[in-house]
Amino acid sequence: MTSLLKFGLVGTGYWARIAHAPVLASTEGIELAAVWGRNPAATAELAAAYHATPHEELEAFLAGVDGVAFAVPPDVQAPIAVRAARAGKHLLLEKPIALSEAAADELVEVAGRNRVASVVFFTLSFQPRMRAWLADVTARGGWSGGAAAWFGASLLESSPFNTPWRREKGALWDLGPHVVSLLWAALGPVTSVTADAGPDDVAHLVLHHQGGPSSVVTVTQSGGEAARGFETYIWGAAGQWDAPAAASDPVVPLRTALTELGRNARSGRTRHPCDVRFGRDVGRVLALAQRQLDERAAT
Ligand SMILES: NC(=O)c1ccc[n+]([C@@H]2O[C@H](COP(=O)([O-])OP(=O)(O)OC[C@H]3O[C@@H](n4cnc5c(N)ncnc54)[C@H](OP(=O)(O)O)[C@@H]3O)[C@@H](O)[C@H]2O)c1
Repeated sequence: MTSLLKFGLVGTGYWARIAHAPVLASTEGIELAAVWGRNPAATAELAAAYHATPHEELEAFLAGVDGVAFAVPPDVQAPIAVRAARAGKHLLLEKPIALSEAAADELVEVAGRNRVASVVFFTLSFQPRMRAWLADVTARGGWSGGAAAWFGASLLESSPFNTPWRREKGALWDLGPHVVSLLWAALGPVTSVTADAGPDDVAHLVLHHQGGPSSVVTVTQSGGEAARGFETYIWGAAGQWDAPAAASDPVVPLRTALTELGRNARSGRTRHPCDVRFGRDVGRVLALAQRQLDERAAT
């Protein structure tokens, strides 16, 4: 029988309620034992819905769990995840893992030193059809390049994802982690990035991958409802190979991420294709791109 791992949830917002809490409460071998949030009423309400313990103090919250799942902005996640890792707690992290390279580096260092297991929820990489596509892509090999475009609408006034950090950082940091991690998995490690901006939060990236392939990315969260869409393909001598559509349901892929984290935590393994180190590596690409966008904006 699978031993039970107690998890605590950090965050009580929309994403915590529709994704993390239901998944933590319904995944075999996992118990949603505790909730921490900055709003005591929201924390009590979410905890009560799952018979979990609400916490206002992080130390007491961490003391009662084996692992922590995060549904807070990345700059809030990173320092709490460092505290959790120092306390030996396994980490189910959200993308991006941090908003600065220094914060990401610290998290990687502390997680490594304390030998905690980690998985970053790069959603696409945990969707069953996308995994099958990636397995096929890897088996075929010989790709020359790729393209990914994700036109989102999270910055619409009516969107539950219209949150302060997204408004400030835009699609580069919100959708960028998804598409960069996917192209990385399909075409190999990213070795360089060139970035330019379009209107609103539109970001264009040219990526070079280890071994020669190159790819292009366009992301925005300001595309509007009618323009919403996700399209990714890779190409080579064998032709063009379209990725499946991005699924909108977060529960199935998040359950896979949590299950794999639990498996690693129980067996003492810390490495995972989407672990905190990979989260740091993807974040470095975004940080490099951001510097170029900032430099262009300043000239
Ligand atoms: N993998 C995916 O597909 C996916 C999809 C959606 C979101 N996400 C990730 O999930 C994370 C949260 O998503 P979101 O931005 O949409 O937020 P959200 O679901 O609106 O939740 C934000 C939560 O963080 C809390 N919070 C905000 N600032 C805080 C602070 N300074 N200290 C403590 N708590 C704070 C909020 O508290 P209040 O309620 O008190 O404001 C709320 O509980 C992000 O990293 C995002 O990238 C991932």
